[in-house]
Amino acid sequence: MDRQLGRILISREEIAARVAELGEAIGRDYAGRAPLLVGVLKGAVVFTADLLRAIPLPAAMDFMAVSSYGSGTRSSGVVRLTADLSLSIEGRDVIIVEDVIDSGRTISYLRRNLATRHPKSLALCVLLDKVSRREVDVDVDYVGFVIPDDFVVGYGLDYDGWHRNLADLAVLEAVARR
Ligand code: PRP
Repeated sequence: MDRQLGRILISREEIAARVAELGEAIGRDYAGRAPLLVGVLKGAVVFTADLLRAIPLPAAMDFMAVSSYGSGTRSSGVVRLTADLSLSIEGRDVIIVEDVIDSGRTISYLRRNLATRHPKSLALCVLLDKVSRREVDVDVDYVGFVIPDDFVVGYGLDYDGWHRNLADLAVLEAVARR
């Protein structure tokens, strides 16, 4: 099977409006504090950058990277830290920023990992939640959109490294080879 770009699932305008709402909500909830956004490479880079600018508070940003082993477009559940934060999060109000939650295994691992570093608080903000795919219970504090189990690319999300630069979120469709 090859894959080709299909319909737009969420337009750039819808994304921008929702990111603005999430930033305002975080601004209200963290009033008087200075949250640290921890973006998860690579998919969450675009969302993290936009969310940071939508938060009307002093806010900081750092990144970490994880990889999950396994088959192609599905994550396997075995998660490994491949790049760590550059800052200490001890005593900080940390918000993990993810592009998508599927099985929940990546974020479950990250929450456990970051909790051991004694942040003052630890929350999770995810742009896309594939609730129907969940295998591990995850508490999500801020959700952009609940989406069906489509293969989605754009706005940071990739297929084999490509399509991250699309401004909209589009469905990648399987097409039969001729
Ligand atoms: C995606 C996404 C999450 C994870 C979610 O990352 O960014 O980290 O999969 O899946 P899960 O809930 O089943 O664990 P991906 O492996 O595609 O890497 P990338 O962000 O570098 O594109």
